[in-house]
Amino acid sequence: MRINEKHYKSLWEKENFPEVISIIDQRKLPYFIDIIDINSSSKMIDAIKSMALRGAPLIGVAGAYAAYLACLEARISLNYSNIDFALNLIKNARPTAVNLIWAINKQEKFIASTRNFDELVEGSLQIARDIYKFELECSTKIAENGVLLLKDIAEKNNGKINILTHCNAGWLATIDYGTATAPIYKARDLGIDVHVWVDETRPRNQGAKLTAFELYHEKISHSIIVDNAGGHLMQKGFVDCVIVGCDRVALNGDVCNKIGTYLKALAAFDNGIPFYVAMPSSTLDFSLDNGVNSINIEERDEFEVLELDGLFNNSIINSKVANPFSRACNPGFDVTPSKYVSKLISEKGLHNPKREELILLKD
Ligand code: MRU
Repeated sequence: MRINEKHYKSLWEKENFPEVISIIDQRKLPYFIDIIDINSSSKMIDAIKSMALRGAPLIGVAGAYAAYLACLEARISLNYSNIDFALNLIKNARPTAVNLIWAINKQEKFIASTRNFDELVEGSLQIARDIYKFELECSTKIAENGVLLLKDIAEKNNGKINILTHCNAGWLATIDYGTATAPIYKARDLGIDVHVWVDETRPRNQGAKLTAFELYHEKISHSIIVDNAGGHLMQKGFVDCVIVGCDRVALNGDVCNKIGTYLKALAAFDNGIPFYVAMPSSTLDFSLDNGVNSINIEERDEFEVLELDGLFNNSIINSKVANPFSRACNPGFDVTPSKYVSKLISEKGLHNPKREELILLKD
């Protein structure tokens, strides 16, 4: 993805130093492009927890690299059990996005197969690279599959489309291109006149800060809206479809995504507007039959609700934005029941949110 004509990915191996993984510090965006070099599993865990990087596919890739860094550390300490300890910490760094567990399960399976430290390092690096490549390919294919839905709408609408999106399911949440944003970029490339309504996505404002930043640099027409505006815009006929990403999808098609997604799905349903979910198969949890009752929703610190950060005099400062004596409750995600989901867009095609279709995505 371009920023001022320079191509970036959200995470990469430092040139000639594969034991150092670089990321863009997403807490500083859109104001500063700050690169963090990560050279230990604990630093990667910290980056995931503190949301220096975030987004389900990227968390999975970062987790896979954290496992590789743990293998490098074990080769130095000659202590194999340190790896198990680290894998457990990585898995629990953020509980909701299933991509993290999916990636660590792959690493764990390999790690259990050898006690040779050189093999562990080389093999775990290869797995991290494979997952990285897989997520990149998913984004490209989700773009191709998802754009078919957008083309259909635009054809009936004089070549125009207004899309609403929530949170950030763009290149910053993946490796490049995004999931929910990928069909949007593809539609633009096909000459469709696209405009995006960007939910600000409180409490951390991933929409206002990150999605808007991406769309601006991709020269896509967009407007940031407060989270409460979507229903009104839908009622007035200003939204043709909603596309969001996801953190975990159950086999019955229930979709867990950033808090507030459910409300947008309800409003879309009430207004007869299609609600699409971009879902790499790494985000489908084959162990879950039902999402509403069983997905572990991350509870985040209340400071995210009570405070906000922003730019002042060229520095990022933090302000209180609520009654200082009140407490807050901060669930990070919610689950949209499958009956409100029009289509799931995966790297393998378009799917109805039904067990009999989703089970076919298992390799
Ligand atoms: O808390 P975050 O910023 O990690 O939440 C991100 C989202 O909810 C995204 O919509 C989801 O991970 C899909 S990213 C392709």
